[in-house]
This record gives sequence, structure tokens and C-alpha cells, in this order.
Amino acid sequence: MNTTNQSRLENTLIDTSHWKLTTSDDSIATLHFDVADSSTNVLSAQALDQFEQILTQLKDEPATGLMIVSDKSSGFIAGADITEFTTIQNEQEALKLIQRGQRIFDLLEALTIPTVCLIDGFCVGGGLELALACDYRIATDQPRTRIGLPEVKLGIHPGFGGSMRLNRLIGAIDAMSLMLAGRAVDARQARRLGIVDYAVTPRHLQTAGLNILHNKPAPKRAGKLKALASHNLVRPLMAWQFRKQVAKQAAKQHYPAPYALIDVWQHHAGNDRAMLDAEAISAAQLIVTDTSKNLVRVFMLQERLKSLGKQTSKITDTGQRRLHVIGAGTMGGDIASWCALRDYTVTLQDRESQFIAPAIKRASQLFKRKLKPARLATAAMDRVQPDLTGIGIEDANVIIEAIVENAQIKQTLFKDIEARCPADAILATNTSSIPLETLNQVLKQPERLVGIHFFNPVAKMQLVEVVSAQNTNADVVARAAAFVRSIDRLPLPVKSSPGFLINRILMPYLLEAVELLSENVAAETIDKTATDFGMPMGPILLADTVGLDICLSVANILADQLGMRVPPVLSETVEQGHLGKKSGQGFYQYKQGKPQKKSAKQLSVPNDEKQSEIEDRLILRLLNECIACLREGVVEDADLLDAGMIFATGFAPFTGGPMQYLETRGRDAVLQRLLKLEEKFGERFRPDAGWQKS
Ligand code: NAI
Repeated sequence: MNTTNQSRLENTLIDTSHWKLTTSDDSIATLHFDVADSSTNVLSAQALDQFEQILTQLKDEPATGLMIVSDKSSGFIAGADITEFTTIQNEQEALKLIQRGQRIFDLLEALTIPTVCLIDGFCVGGGLELALACDYRIATDQPRTRIGLPEVKLGIHPGFGGSMRLNRLIGAIDAMSLMLAGRAVDARQARRLGIVDYAVTPRHLQTAGLNILHNKPAPKRAGKLKALASHNLVRPLMAWQFRKQVAKQAAKQHYPAPYALIDVWQHHAGNDRAMLDAEAISAAQLIVTDTSKNLVRVFMLQERLKSLGKQTSKITDTGQRRLHVIGAGTMGGDIASWCALRDYTVTLQDRESQFIAPAIKRASQLFKRKLKPARLATAAMDRVQPDLTGIGIEDANVIIEAIVENAQIKQTLFKDIEARCPADAILATNTSSIPLETLNQVLKQPERLVGIHFFNPVAKMQLVEVVSAQNTNADVVARAAAFVRSIDRLPLPVKSSPGFLINRILMPYLLEAVELLSENVAAETIDKTATDFGMPMGPILLADTVGLDICLSVANILADQLGMRVPPVLSETVEQGHLGKKSGQGFYQYKQGKPQKKSAKQLSVPNDEKQSEIEDRLILRLLNECIACLREGVVEDADLLDAGMIFATGFAPFTGGPMQYLETRGRDAVLQRLLKLEEKFGERFRPDAGWQKS
């Protein structure tokens, strides 16, 4: 293989709005994909039409090979155009669209000349399905290259032949585990799995493509041993194993797609045509389910949050990414390391070096886990600098305060910071309960202060609330949101008010769980009710994990300011020193970090009526608080509220978020149920005034 890209003179043969077919004197045709008016290549209906036309015309060209490339710097192909999913009316229409996609990729596969995809950046969903219909695939060994079939995350499975072709290429064990989890891999993993033929540096990509087209090695297929997993006699057992695996992650009634994929594979693997047909029918059935519609909605909401961080790019435009964090505790330490991971140079300040040392140790562990090869982890360590005197304040772009939750101490600190920091630096607090107005009143320019409220643990929680007071400058808010995006997090603008949005909505749900505990409902029963509803973790386990002391302090603040009732058992448990997982005992007891739960046999099962009452007590208190937050304008609209709850708390994504759940169940029905609960349990279920408005 040559080592550098050859420069080739290309003549244009066909030029459409999204594709351009060129040829050069080596007779190799190159098909450039460059979707018009978009930064990302997606396979819209129009792009697919043009692709089909080109493939049909290509048959008459004297080319000896075809390279498919992306002309976008963002990546290869991001998949089908998800916005088009929302216009699909019924299963028949979906089936027609999917079968058309299959037909086009079959055309590509049937070309008599050798074909290769050159992949640099993401190649996912329909993008990978297209690549799988080529004879060869070559990818760049860059972190930006991600290859996978994540369709289950949208409540469907591959439909354009991807599941048949990936199974055929790498065998069922690897193919199904990738597709069932919707997991993407980098180029080296893809090479090891056999998805791509080579993983090369970007400058070798084209040359590698030309060489493979000239040499025409036999296209890869799963070896005999790997293909064995699809043998008729083995399949039922494998399918059982796959279902067991999936059941650990997703309940069938909420997330049917992975189960449907297993069915397709179990009944049709080994017969390519039958598998393609079954894949199309099954994907068409899935695409019109409520789960898929809601997961597509969640995807769109995520895009909306991302776009909120794009309104200004000042933070990154300057090329300077310098952050100063004050307070190296649980939050400050982890904010510092996360931002260093995302290429910021970070100075980390605390009262004494003994308070910074644990944060540096945690940073090192994070980098070792996340950054490979090791030199990248070393480089990230170099970007975190302990800074006892706060010298970093003087040239930071962003300053985040994360010291002890005490208004006076924070005010003193902010006066000092304001006097020393650059005039255009973002001045932020991570406070979770002190009103911004209390902190900014000591500043000469109060409009400068913004809340950048992270959730614990920082490295896991995608959402960050961007908090503004009435007098906060809108540009500062936009820049804070851009900062949040620049560290690969999702910004949610909220108003400074007790608990902001997420903690405020979550708290009544947690407190109701504690009320249930006080009535001797088992913690296991409460938690199972919530996870059966679709929550990632039950409220009792969540409270233990967050720390009962932290829950109590947030609950007390909300009790003071909003009149929430805090069940006495919460403070009693904290007084006994039972703080949750961190102290080994909370509402559960912990052994080696694991809650000791009673088995189903040891628990009395509530009847259906009681069960649905437990669920409604938890969920309806949460919904009632959502209505209150919307009435008060804590968040701009119901969609953003849903986005916040899904990305901060994992609120059952298949429902589309709490407000979408409310709409699906019916507002009036929920309100009537709330009134019934108020009758039985008193004023904590009293419908908020916002119900009248809506
Ligand atoms: P922490 O107690 O773990 O850390 C606070 C750190 O600030 C300590 O290392 C302390 O030495 C340092 N510190 C105190 N006064 C200082 C000063 N004047 N100058 C420099 N350093 C000083 O606290 P944690 O949990 O990290 O909380 C920090 C802030 O983040 C608080 O405002 C809290 O409300 C907020 N927050 C906490 C969350 C949590 O789950 N712990 C979640 C979101 C926000």
C-alpha cells in the first residue's frame, strides 16, 4: 500500500444537489456526498432518489471501481433523515419507504465493479447500511470516527439491509450485540470486528481506497466459526441468550425494537432475501409505535438543546479554552477534570492543597479510563493545574465557583473575583439553592453572573442547567450555554427559583416515595413500581445514591420556599448517621456498594389497585410540579421541560418525557386522578393553579 494520498485529476460526470460523480484517468469513479444546505450528510428521501439515479447511470460508465466519500468535514453519513420519520402516516407508507431504501442499497451491492466507502468521522445508521452494501470499507483511526447501527435508540432496528449484512459480515454474536445495544465503535474496534477492512490515518485514506479497488481482495465474510451462531440448530438457544441480555436493559413492553430484531434474526438468518423482507416489515411496524415516535421526539429535543448552545460561538472562536474553578470538592473537582478532558486548560483553586489533591487523583482516574493511548491521558493531566492563589482568574475565559453552599462566603469570593477577572470572562456559580439575585447583588456588574448548575456525577450527567436571574444579561446566558456545549454537555436555560427546574420537579417524587416508606410500603416495592414505569432507578435507591443528607437539605429549602412537606423519617434517618450509599446504610443497607434488597418472595405483592395508586402517587406529584414550573416560567416550554427531565434524570424516555406522558394519558384524566388523591391524602396532591390555564 502506498503511504500518501495520490493527487488525482477528477472530471465531473454527474452533478446533483447532494451527490457528485467524478472520474479520473485511473478509471476509478468517486462519488462525493455533500448534502446541500446542511453541515451533516443525512440520507433524506431526495438524497436517496439522487443516489439511485446515479447508481443506475453508473452501469453505463466505463469505470473500473467506485469510491464513495463524504465532502463534509463533520463525518461520513449520520443516517436517515430523522425529521422525515415524523411525517410517516402508517405502516404501509413506512414499508414502502424502507423497501425503496433496500432496493437502492441492493443496486449498490449488485454493481459489477468493486466498491469501497472511505469513512472519516461518524458512519452510523443508514450511513453504515450503505457502507455495508459496498465490497470494502476503510476508516480513519481518529477518535471522531464512530461506526454503528444505533437504530434501537429510536425505537426501531436497521431496515435498509443493515441487520442482514452486518450479521453476514461479522457473525451474529458481534453483530447482534452491537445492534441490540445501539453501540458505536471506533475504527480500530471496527477493524478487529471485521466491519472495516483497514483503519488508516486520514492522509492514507484515499490511497488505501485506490489500492483495494486495484487489488480486489475477496470481500470479507464472517468465518465458519462465527457463522455457526446462525446455524438452524443453534439459533433458538442464541436468541434466548440475546433476549436475556436485552431484558437486563429494556423491558419489552416499553422498548419492543431489540426483541423484534431478535425475532427477525431467529426466524430468517441464513436466508438473505427472507431476512431483508422480514427486516423491512418489522422496521415498518416499529416506526409507527408510540415508543418510536417518542424516542424520535427525544432525539429532536436533544438537537434543540444542542442548538441552544450554538447561538454564540464566542467561547470557542477565540481558540482559548481556559477555565478557572474555585472549590475542588465533589463538584468543583469533577467539573475541572471533565473540562480538561474536553480540552480546556484548567486552574483549580481551594483553600489548601490537601483539598485539591483528591480532585487531582480522581482526574487521573477519569483520564486513564476515558483517554487512550496513555499519552492523551498524560496531556490531559498537564491541563489541570492546582492554583492556591487563584492566579488563573486573571486570564480565564470561564470562572466557575463551586465552594461551600453559603451565601455570605460566596458573596465575598465573587467580589474578589470580579475585581481580578478579565472583563469578558463568564462568571458562573454552581450553587444549587442560593438565588442568583442574592449572589449578584454584591457585584459592580450584577448582570454578569450566571448559574452553570451541573449534576452529580459530572462525568455521567448530560444535562447542565444554565440559570439566569431577571437582571442577567442575555448574551452572558447564551455564552454560558455555548460553554456547556463546548464541553459536550446539554444546556437547559432555566430561571433562578427554588431548586431551579430539575431538583424541584424531582423532589416531590422522592418525598412521596419516603411517605410511602413511612406507611410501611417496602422500599423494594416502591422502587420496582418506578422502574416498571420506566425510570432508570427507583426513587429510594436514587435518594440513597444522591445522599440522604443532600436530599434533606434540598427538601428543606423547597419546604421553606414552596411549602413542601418533608416526611419526618427522612431527617430521622439522617440524624442516625444513615446517609445512604456513601455511609453504607440509608433506606437500604449496602454491602460493597450494593443495596441489600429483599427478594420478591419475601415481599407481599400489592394488588393491582394498590400498585397503580403507588405509581400515581409518585408520578402525579411530579407532574403537578411540572405544571407549577411551567406556570411560573421556570423553563420556557413543555418540550424543554421534557428534555430536561429525560437528560438529567432519565425520566422514562419511551414516554417522551413527563409532559408528553401527561398528554398521552389525557390531561383531564390525570387531573381527575389528582383530585381523588387529594381527597384521600390531603393537600400535597392539590392541583396547581397552572392546571386551570392549560
Ligand atoms: P464540597 O464540600 O464537596 O466542596 C466544597 C469545596 O470548596 C471544599 O473543597 C472547600 O475546601 C472549598 N472551599 C470552601 N470555601 C472556599 C473558599 N472560600 N475558597 C476556595 N475554596 C473553598 O461541596 P460540593 O458538594 O462540591 O458543592 C459545591 C457547590 O456545588 C455548592 O454550591 C453546591 O450547592 C453545589 N452543588 C452540589 C451538588 C452535589 O451533588 N454535591 C450538585 C450540584 C451543585
